[in-house]
Amino acid sequence: MSQPHLIKPSSSPSHTIIPIVSTSCTAARSTPAPCFFRAAASSFCPPPSSSSSLLSLSRPPHRRARARRGDAIGCVPSSAARSSETVPSSSSSGSAADPSSAMAGVRVRATATIKVTAGGFLNDLRPSRVIDNIKDLVGRSLNLELVSSDLLDAKTGKEKPTIRSYAHQVADNDDEVLTYQADFDVPASFGAVGAVLVSNEQQRTEMFFVDIKLSSSEGVEITTIRCNSWVAPNSGDDAGKRVFFANKPYLPSQTPAGLLSYRKKDLEQKRGNGRGQRKSTDRIYDYDVYNDLANPDSNADLARPVLGGSKQFPYPRRCRTGRPATKNEPKTESRGGDNYVPRDEAFSEEKLLQFSVTTVQSVLSAVVPAAQSALIDPNLGFPSFFVIDKLFEDGVKLPPAEQLGFLRSVVPRLLQLLRDSPGDQVLLFDLPANVQKDKFSWLRDEEFARETLAGINPYAIELVREFPLKSKLDPAVYGPAESAITADVLEKQMGHVMTVAEAVKQKRLFMLDFHDLFLPYVHKIRELKHTTMYGSRTVFFLTSDGTLRLLAIELTRPKSPSQPQWRRVFTPSTDTTESWLWRMAKSHVRAHDAGHHELVSHWLRTHCAVEPYILAANRQLSEMHPVFHLLRPHFRYTMRINAMARSALISAGGIIETTFSPGRYAMELSSAAYAKLWRFDAEALPADLVRRGMAELDPESQHGLKLTIQDYPFANDGLLIWDAIQNWVQAYVSKFYPDAASVAGDVELQAFWTEVRTVGHGDKKDETWWPALDTPATLAHALTTIVWVASAHHAAVNFGQYDFGGYFPNRPSIARTKMPVEEPVDAAAMAAFLDNPDQALRECFPSQVQATLVMAVLNLLSAHSPDEEYLGGMETVPWNDDERVRAAYGEFHARLKEIEGIIDGRNRDRKFRNRCGAGMLPYQLMKPFSQPGVTGKGIPNSTSI
Ligand SMILES: [Fe+2]
Repeated sequence: MSQPHLIKPSSSPSHTIIPIVSTSCTAARSTPAPCFFRAAASSFCPPPSSSSSLLSLSRPPHRRARARRGDAIGCVPSSAARSSETVPSSSSSGSAADPSSAMAGVRVRATATIKVTAGGFLNDLRPSRVIDNIKDLVGRSLNLELVSSDLLDAKTGKEKPTIRSYAHQVADNDDEVLTYQADFDVPASFGAVGAVLVSNEQQRTEMFFVDIKLSSSEGVEITTIRCNSWVAPNSGDDAGKRVFFANKPYLPSQTPAGLLSYRKKDLEQKRGNGRGQRKSTDRIYDYDVYNDLANPDSNADLARPVLGGSKQFPYPRRCRTGRPATKNEPKTESRGGDNYVPRDEAFSEEKLLQFSVTTVQSVLSAVVPAAQSALIDPNLGFPSFFVIDKLFEDGVKLPPAEQLGFLRSVVPRLLQLLRDSPGDQVLLFDLPANVQKDKFSWLRDEEFARETLAGINPYAIELVREFPLKSKLDPAVYGPAESAITADVLEKQMGHVMTVAEAVKQKRLFMLDFHDLFLPYVHKIRELKHTTMYGSRTVFFLTSDGTLRLLAIELTRPKSPSQPQWRRVFTPSTDTTESWLWRMAKSHVRAHDAGHHELVSHWLRTHCAVEPYILAANRQLSEMHPVFHLLRPHFRYTMRINAMARSALISAGGIIETTFSPGRYAMELSSAAYAKLWRFDAEALPADLVRRGMAELDPESQHGLKLTIQDYPFANDGLLIWDAIQNWVQAYVSKFYPDAASVAGDVELQAFWTEVRTVGHGDKKDETWWPALDTPATLAHALTTIVWVASAHHAAVNFGQYDFGGYFPNRPSIARTKMPVEEPVDAAAMAAFLDNPDQALRECFPSQVQATLVMAVLNLLSAHSPDEEYLGGMETVPWNDDERVRAAYGEFHARLKEIEGIIDGRNRDRKFRNRCGAGMLPYQLMKPFSQPGVTGKGIPNSTSI
């Protein structure tokens, strides 16, 4: 479906395509030229044969072309060596190790590519600025240094001096890319170049380095070092210099001796010292608890407990920002300004532009009903279903920003953008895909049931393994543990085709269990205005055609000092009153499911749980570590989107609290879910399915699992993706870790894992289920789990949000009113329900403001960015030059393309009744690739929106 709205076509450049280097080193074989990157590419640059003929500029064109593609990684061709002997080394200003040997070396040219992203930071590099530009003009803005992989003296550990040169700007291509060049005279004794140090000596201007190419003076490429990183201004001193390592990854124990200190120092810089407030140009990764969601200085009602670091509220850690404490709550961090993220975690300006424009568009749409009501009453419900439909049909006239009332406090950042945004005054929401397919699907029980298997929260459904259903909560506090859903009730709904005991034995009963998670919060939430809460259990029967039939819903209010327990079982009925009650009970369960989805399946298990992996990886795994190379694409933008979420979505008084049933207790609930449910080993898809009884281990079956429901679209497609990730990761791990000792002895890897367990997820550090990383197999499984969660798990719960939740009657985020039959019965409410049940249902639904705000946010969060990088996509082909790694990635990519076809085939096959049928939205959330926008498919590498 199209989602163009006000999104401007991007004028930013396309992706930088990362070249693949081959393993051959033809030039090096041809002549005894100095082999830069020798250590980095020893297996690819064998000693030259004495019988080889000299390679010169007159060699056949195809040989030269190969070299330009980077075939001769690290090895300077003889032509370069010979030419350097004839070219004076005038431009090299550095301390070459041995001037007398320089004449025997070669001239090397470094070409730094500095990318300009949308939004025009290039303007900062143009003659509009005085001081930095003068430095630029005289060639004193960018200093590069070549670092040898070898030591000067192995006994003393003394390093060779670097070779330095200032770089000059030489090209400015189409307003998109700046090119700087520096020349170096490299003595033959220098050895392999293992890294380049960069100093940005401008006073104010950050520089985004795409890559640095090293080539001979004739332009024959030696290698290209991937950077993709910002370098802060004034980074000329030793503490500020950035190191970019050559692309070949090394385990710590295999690090070339000349690079050891650089490897160590770079990690120390990224860890920081744990003190002070972070500034936007920092590159420091540190931990903190979730203590920045509250705003007690603004309003006592906006005080919130600290999440993380306590037994009461365990939680993963977030990135430390170091802001001062609030005045009124010393344990709460103040929330001024934008939330810090390390510089390279920020959105590209292309993504930022898309995000901002879409955000503005969405929020503008969201505020319209409030403005049009003229009352700006956030509690006003929809007067009719007709008005709901009109929202999609007519578009909406935008109000002036001044009329936005309370929304200012909910989305201040977004409203700032609104004020700055010119443009159209009428905006539209696209009709969500499920409504396009079947406008009335939200009313049908079979669609309710189907979405537990093929919707956006496929992580909630579980097998009923014992009957009667029982709570694990304390009956003294919460009332009887045994459910009111009896065998009689279920057997009647099953048409007496079998007994409940038989159905349990045959694995035919399933449930959504939102009882124990929500029940402890029922009374607290009910003290809030305009919302309510129950604990709920919903039971389904697996029919012989493989679909689920909805049997019964139990809603429970626990006892309190002033009230006894109340609970009631609702069932489908031919009685009109009971039928309306059934419809209302379903809306309550849908609101529970919406809360569980957003707070647990989505936020907690992907966005929130992944951030500690990112922090630990950056603090403990060098950027030359192979596992860092593997994981880096799966961390893209996660910290930035999480920082945005902390400022506007999950914050006190933010969008989640304003629009979901739990209100101010929303984040406490996600902490309760973390305490009860989260365990690393169960985040792997197969383990998750087994834990919920949706599969059992079976070595004879595909994926090693026998599914309890054969047609479970999320599991069917997800397991294809899981296996593809696993095969790729296993191949990658086997390349670098030949045996258990190599895993156990990897000091950086073990430090990474220790920090994940004891700091990032430190509130779970004593759990016995944490796997040890002690063999290639356990390492591959843990890495597969991390990649799965960051990519496919997130995609499964994220990119269908607008399709399934945009039309809110299908997934109301909140149920605002009690069941009219709840005791003690409110006679007036009961009379109103009997008189106009349609109105009673609409009053239970979200208010106009809540509904449209959720629609806006879901639209925003369901959209792929134009610069999206997809799982197994060619944008993230590994740069390292190993044949096996590249071949394995090629297979991974090909398999994902194949899976696309398999999924399409399944969606066309009528035997899969949970994904193919009249008016049914096909299940595409596990299709790997997508176009930009809201498409309901596509698996990005990372949790990035
Ligand atoms: Fe997300």
